[in-house]
Amino acid sequence: MPERIFIGVAWPYANGPAHLGHIAGAYLPADIFARYHRRRGNDVLMVSGSDSHGAPITMQAEAEGIAPARLVEKYHATFLDAWEGLGITFDLFTTTMTEGHKETTQELFSALLEKGYIYPGTMKVAYSPDFDRFLPDRYVRGTCPVCAFEDARGDQCDNCGTILDPVDLRDPVYVRDGERHRVEVRDTEHLFLKLSAFEERLREWVEPKTHWRLNVRNFTRGFLKGGLKDRAITRNLDWGVPVPLEGYEDKRLYVWFEAVIGYLSASKEWARGQGDPEAWRPFWEDPATKSYYFVGKDNIPFHTIIWPAMLMGSGALNLPYDVPANEFLTLEGRQLSTSRNWAVWVPDYLERFPPDPLRYHLAANMPETSDSDFSWAEYVRRNNDELVATFGNLVHRVLSLLERNFEGRVPDPGELGPADRDLLGRAEAAVEAAAASIEAVRLREALGAGMGLARDANRYLDAQAPWHQVREDMPAAGRTLYTALCALAALAVVLYPFLPFSAQRLHELLGRTGRVEDEPWQAVWPEPGTALPKPAPLFTKLDDAVVEEMAGKLGTSGAAAATS
Ligand code: MF3
Ligand code: ZN
Repeated sequence: MPERIFIGVAWPYANGPAHLGHIAGAYLPADIFARYHRRRGNDVLMVSGSDSHGAPITMQAEAEGIAPARLVEKYHATFLDAWEGLGITFDLFTTTMTEGHKETTQELFSALLEKGYIYPGTMKVAYSPDFDRFLPDRYVRGTCPVCAFEDARGDQCDNCGTILDPVDLRDPVYVRDGERHRVEVRDTEHLFLKLSAFEERLREWVEPKTHWRLNVRNFTRGFLKGGLKDRAITRNLDWGVPVPLEGYEDKRLYVWFEAVIGYLSASKEWARGQGDPEAWRPFWEDPATKSYYFVGKDNIPFHTIIWPAMLMGSGALNLPYDVPANEFLTLEGRQLSTSRNWAVWVPDYLERFPPDPLRYHLAANMPETSDSDFSWAEYVRRNNDELVATFGNLVHRVLSLLERNFEGRVPDPGELGPADRDLLGRAEAAVEAAAASIEAVRLREALGAGMGLARDANRYLDAQAPWHQVREDMPAAGRTLYTALCALAALAVVLYPFLPFSAQRLHELLGRTGRVEDEPWQAVWPEPGTALPKPAPLFTKLDDAVVEEMAGKLGTSGAAAATS
């Protein structure tokens, strides 16, 4: 029986192009997971889109002197290019500016309102007398009341992850153009989401989630331990989803409240696009569906507390099955910073290099359980030592020997010996092991199973030495090269989710046709006699000069210098 898998991926603010932190944090792991499940024959729906509202958008639009909608369109287009270039296979990547999103958001809002989970109240809001405006939460800075970090943002503390209200901060200031401005606290009327009503239910729901990553579960439990405060879900703004309630015409729904609803509205939009407007239902209503949310660690509370609470309150929609949040990626040992342009932007990367070496490096080095670092030196080393030397050369050695000695055809293996059978066993085991690891969302480990098989196959070749066998014992050479081809066929399965472009080429080099993603998750041994195309290298060795060239560009040029 195929399984049904919903994959939601964090919605990036459309205020700048994607950078490697986004890719390692959410988009690549989600794509690896989706590609695996599709090949497994499971029913997959993977959606996300441009987060189009909120202060990050309006502030950047102001900085670029364009309307927020134009800003979103501009960066949305760069996201779509990035997904295509990197092979990130969304079923739909939309925006939160659509009519459909507005409708779904207002519906869910009304359902929560009707059930008494939304109520009006007074909120203390940060206000700038110097600028005569209410301040977006994240532009108020001050000391975190929980961990005493001095530069906490008004919406969330970067140091301890606590979700904050700007008025929670001690000594709040509004920093603009390097100047610190006084912040006043004013009372305004807003709508509140009654999170406190879900505290017990959330606790019971989280407790048995022993398959969650430890940091995700611990963070969520800690969050609940402190008790849940009701939170305002409206803001004094004119850019955002309107509040469908009289008296709130000058307010908009808070970006976080509506962005998470994007998962649902995007699923509905996808269904309409399929010509089957009801097709979203099984993904949200059938309790057998498993929903995975791939997000960075700063997004954990929104996906393990707030969104589940909203879903619980609104009726019978599926809650997350897992939220495999990643930690952060640092760049050359320093925290990524879009405002200081300390980032590698995807469009810049793709202009210079192919996608698979980046996918490989980020997956091998994925910040699954702790922060990890991207450096150009490591990128080049992994490309040369692992992709070229371990995987690429293996493929090339086998195919060149077949071209020269077997007229480029799959040889007849005859009777296999113990060493051959051992390698076949390892090939099958790697396919199984990688599947189990991916299902548990341990993606580095799955990639490790693939590269382990490549090393085993290299060792096997060195031991059998088919380059000698072709001179002394042709049948033995045929047996060895046939067995090695089987290992390559297994690698075209195991490495596919990580290196989809190279796996397609390997698939063709093995004499197969069609798209590799249409093949099942199973190593298919080659048919003796099959003609193999002329071998060509899968990867290109990089010169060490690349390290200096690319590292030298950091912080100087780039596709954008967005504010965040
Ligand atoms: N735009 C938010 C960020 O970049 C993420 C939103 S995820 C969503 O942190 F689920 F809320 F959409
Ligand atoms: Zn803090």
